[in-house]
Amino acid sequence: MTATPWLTYAPSGKAPMRPAGSEPRAAIDLPRPDLRSGASLMTALSFRASTREFLPRPLSLATLGELLWAADGLNRPLSGGRTAPSPHNAQEIDIYAALPQGVYRYDAPTHRLVLKRAVDARGMTGYQDFVGEAPLDLIYVVRGSKLLEMPASQRDTFSAVTAGAIAQNVSLYCASAGLATVVRGWLDHRLLADALSLNEDETPILAQTVGLPVDTGAAQNS
Ligand SMILES: Cc1cc2nc3c(=O)[nH]c(=O)nc-3n(C[C@H](O)[C@H](O)[C@H](O)COP(=O)(O)O)c2cc1C
Repeated sequence: MTATPWLTYAPSGKAPMRPAGSEPRAAIDLPRPDLRSGASLMTALSFRASTREFLPRPLSLATLGELLWAADGLNRPLSGGRTAPSPHNAQEIDIYAALPQGVYRYDAPTHRLVLKRAVDARGMTGYQDFVGEAPLDLIYVVRGSKLLEMPASQRDTFSAVTAGAIAQNVSLYCASAGLATVVRGWLDHRLLADALSLNEDETPILAQTVGLPVDTGAAQNS
């Protein structure tokens, strides 16, 4: 594969790290998801599509709670099971949420966001113009220390599959809730790792922008 196809995604040419929009909270408790909300799975599948235009309006806390629970939340508290599969239940992908007020890590067991860095790093999660403007960019980060029991030859493939399952959970939640989203592999991994202050064994592999769609946004998320 060459790098050429990625260039068709129209780079914006900016990668600013901005100061946090407001004083960030150290942790944000997320509302529990309403398991009866949204369109049916089959309807969501019929709406699933990549969208690259977003309203700059923030997502509500309720939406954020549902979105992250759908992504990789705890759905079987007794066993610690999550909404996304992972190899040997390694749960090796951390989800970071780049919000205007800071970068947070989603802690699935407590269903809360934990502040990682008090900066607006949305613009550093990719090259496309909507990246710094949409209200939320998710970053999927492999935590290598959770894969040490696995043969080295399988680690990249398996963690990419886990990230893909999480991304599809998010895409289907978005389709079911009337939100716009696009999965993005075109990242500067080193820049992003620095922006998130990641350790050496933590690697960002995929990002996903989420927001209100420009066409129906006014009626959503109220
Ligand atoms: C692994 C992966 C990486 C992708 N990377 C990008 C990206 O960096 N930027 C982008 O705008 N779209 C990206 N996409 C979205 C694809 O371009 C999109 O899924 C494809 O054009 C099909 O369109 P659809 O999702 O609307 O069916 C990516 C999709 C996948 C699965």
